Amino acid sequence: MGLGCTMGLRSTLVVMALLLSGAASLKSQAYFSETGELPCHFTNSQNLSLDELVIFWQDQDNLVLYELYRGQEKPHNVHSKYMGRTSFDQATWTLKLHNVQIKDKGSYQCFIHHKGPHGLVPIHQMSSDLSVLANFSQPEINLLTNDTENSIINLTCSSTQGYPEPQRMYMLLKTKNSTTEHGAVMNISQNNITKLYNVSISVSFSIPPETNVSVLCVLQLDSTKTQLFSPPCNIDAKPPVQPPAPDHKLWIAALLVIVVIVCGMTSFVTLRKRKKKQLGPSNECGETIKMNRKESKQTENREVHERSDEAQCDVKILKTASDDNSATEF
Ligand SMILES: *[C@@H]1O[C@H](CO)[C@@H](O)[C@H](O)[C@H]1NC(C)=O
Ligand SMILES: *[C@@H]1O[C@H](CO)[C@@H](O)[C@H](O)[C@H]1NC(C)=O
Ligand SMILES: *[C@@H]1O[C@H](CO)[C@@H](O)[C@H](O)[C@H]1NC(C)=O
Ligand SMILES: *[C@@H]1O[C@H](CO)[C@@H](O)[C@H](O)[C@H]1NC(C)=O
Ligand SMILES: *[C@@H]1O[C@H](CO)[C@@H](O)[C@H](O)[C@H]1NC(C)=O
Ligand SMILES: *[C@@H]1O[C@H](CO)[C@@H](O)[C@H](O)[C@H]1NC(C)=O
Ligand SMILES: *[C@@H]1O[C@H](CO)[C@@H](O)[C@H](O)[C@H]1NC(C)=O
Ligand SMILES: *[C@@H]1O[C@H](CO)[C@@H](O)[C@H](O)[C@H]1NC(C)=O
Ligand SMILES: *[C@@H]1O[C@H](CO)[C@@H](O)[C@H](O)[C@H]1NC(C)=O
Repeated sequence: MGLGCTMGLRSTLVVMALLLSGAASLKSQAYFSETGELPCHFTNSQNLSLDELVIFWQDQDNLVLYELYRGQEKPHNVHSKYMGRTSFDQATWTLKLHNVQIKDKGSYQCFIHHKGPHGLVPIHQMSSDLSVLANFSQPEINLLTNDTENSIINLTCSSTQGYPEPQRMYMLLKTKNSTTEHGAVMNISQNNITKLYNVSISVSFSIPPETNVSVLCVLQLDSTKTQLFSPPCNIDAKPPVQPPAPDHKLWIAALLVIVVIVCGMTSFVTLRKRKKKQLGPSNECGETIKMNRKESKQTENREVHERSDEAQCDVKILKTASDDNSATEF
């Protein structure tokens, strides 16, 4: 998992009161696995003590999250999914919901009743909407290239463990002069339990020869301008000519010429001998050439491998290192 994915214990909360035709509704936001706040906004104008009050919170399915009955916590009515996950902040009349999950998003209601001599009298009610977010990890580029001959590179980019579903993911190819955008259909997978999304794209494009290029991956989170950028993947220009290469080829060519000549001479001699002695044909030559062909093919292969090593992406190293981490984390 990338560094961008680690979630601090910090709780970030945005509360915004929407006053709609007298009825108050509150919007609240929490990060996955952190603590969310469900406010009640009770202004205790009569200075009632907790002993005289019955306070409880319910979710949209009328399941009880928390109940404070005349100053005493009553776990009896609390639904099992909220058991041990709440704490009441008496100073602000706010209920804290710990270890928030994606499925916790929705609306909640807080009720305050006055326990008087004639029974319970409702004195306050407030609803709030909780939305849950998870920050996607910083996108990571992984270079899978094997086709350096045609200057075609294949890249994947991925980002993990976010919510909600992002808008778009694409690559930016930057050269000294230009920036071009390369999009692809986003591959989205959602975790069954956490409901978090992983996204990735796979792109292949040709890179201009003898130019240094830098590739960036961009994850656009929503319709606004919120974007996450990968670290750049730099592909340096190949040196125009590899000095040892022509020498090598010349040497092989010379060797082949020598072999052909030697072979020709041998065949000539053998033929003459055969004419004389009527002996079976010799295959020496054919084999020598075959072996030589094989050798030169191997040399070519070696060159291809060397070249693909050159085009290595610095990001790839990062990726391998972080893969190791994920093994220990999960
Ligand atoms: C998520 O990202 C936002 C915006 O970059 C940042 O303010 C917030 O602290 C992050 N939250 C977590 C839990 O990483
Ligand atoms: C509210 O009541 C408490 C005792 O229950 C008292 O100490 C406090 O002064 C009162 N405050 C106001 C503003 O009346
Ligand atoms: C390149 O190709 C070779 C064999 O064709 C393969 O073993 C190797 O894993 C490939 N490398 C990449 C980065 O795809
Ligand atoms: C690169 O992408 C092209 C086109 O999508 C594909 O044909 C080729 O097999 C890919 N090569 C590698 C090494 O993934
Ligand atoms: C960059 O600009 C120069 C001249 O302005 C042009 O000759 C060259 O082809 C351009 N290179 C690319 C990769 O667009
Ligand atoms: C989408 O991503 C998953 C997980 O990374 C992978 O197993 C699957 O093959 C990908 N699908 C496509 C169409 O690329
Ligand atoms: C998403 O990515 C994380 C981290 O790489 C991995 O552990 C998890 O299995 C992935 N989930 C899905 C649904 O692909
Ligand atoms: C997701 O859930 C379905 C059924 O609920 C199950 O068959 C499947 O194996 C689960 N997949 C994962 C990756 O947990
Ligand atoms: C590419 O970058 C390297 C350094 O990373 C530099 O030495 C080289 O001159 C650059 N080549 C071009 C064509 O810009």
